[in-house]
Amino acid sequence: MLATPFLFIANFKAQKTPGKTHEFMQHSARLNDLMQEMHANLVICPSAESLEIVHNALRQYKNNLLLGAQGCAPALTGAFTGQIPILSLVELGCSYCIIGHSEEREYAGETDTSVAIKAALLLDQGIIPIICVGETHNDDMSKLKDEIATQLAPLFENSAQKTGRCYIAYEPRWAIGTGKTPSIAHIQEVFAYIKELTNRHISSMIVNLLYGGSVSESSIDNLRLLKKNNPELSGFLIGNASLEPQNLTKIVKLWYV
Ligand code: PGA
Repeated sequence: MLATPFLFIANFKAQKTPGKTHEFMQHSARLNDLMQEMHANLVICPSAESLEIVHNALRQYKNNLLLGAQGCAPALTGAFTGQIPILSLVELGCSYCIIGHSEEREYAGETDTSVAIKAALLLDQGIIPIICVGETHNDDMSKLKDEIATQLAPLFENSAQKTGRCYIAYEPRWAIGTGKTPSIAHIQEVFAYIKELTNRHISSMIVNLLYGGSVSESSIDNLRLLKKNNPELSGFLIGNASLEPQNLTKIVKLWYV
């Protein structure tokens, strides 16, 4: 089996208007070359109103640049004001969809149950879910593990029989947008725990692990230690530092130094 390419996921959040997203996409050719050279993939996740802009810009870069959504309704279509039907993501050629992001949990009523429902529907439609989990405070390890097990429990129940691939992104809430990152040992221990849980509960699925939370030009140097010590790491979910193609390029290059 071919190794899965390392993923850099650019989460634009609500930081870019369609005009700004269009400007970012002017750099597609250079970003595609970089990704090809590194044998990596870049998943661009704009806000909903810009999905079509990215979709159109990526038509010629199907291999290394891919489209992701930042969220979806818990249904293919339906009465969910303000949310995006999963069938729209299919129509717009989304390969990935982030669900359970801590900002969605905090501001948009995302719950562990809605994450589980969305993950199952996305998998059925061939869209790879990027499921975000992580502790709210910089708590002790055993509390943190309990929090993650609780977040994932409905997913395990709903998707026990599913096949296909999903990504679980470990994103400590306290590390998002703060410039703080956990120690390498901390990330490794959480990864090992998530792996133990997924091997036990969703063993028929391919589960890849991501790290997210203040990944930047300055933190990547330290995070590089994960590469040596953690073959489980399959990519990064990047917020602020993904907004400028130049910053993103620096991170990618530094990762492969
Ligand atoms: P950040 O955001 O890189 O700005 O910390 C990451 C995320 O929220 O996914």
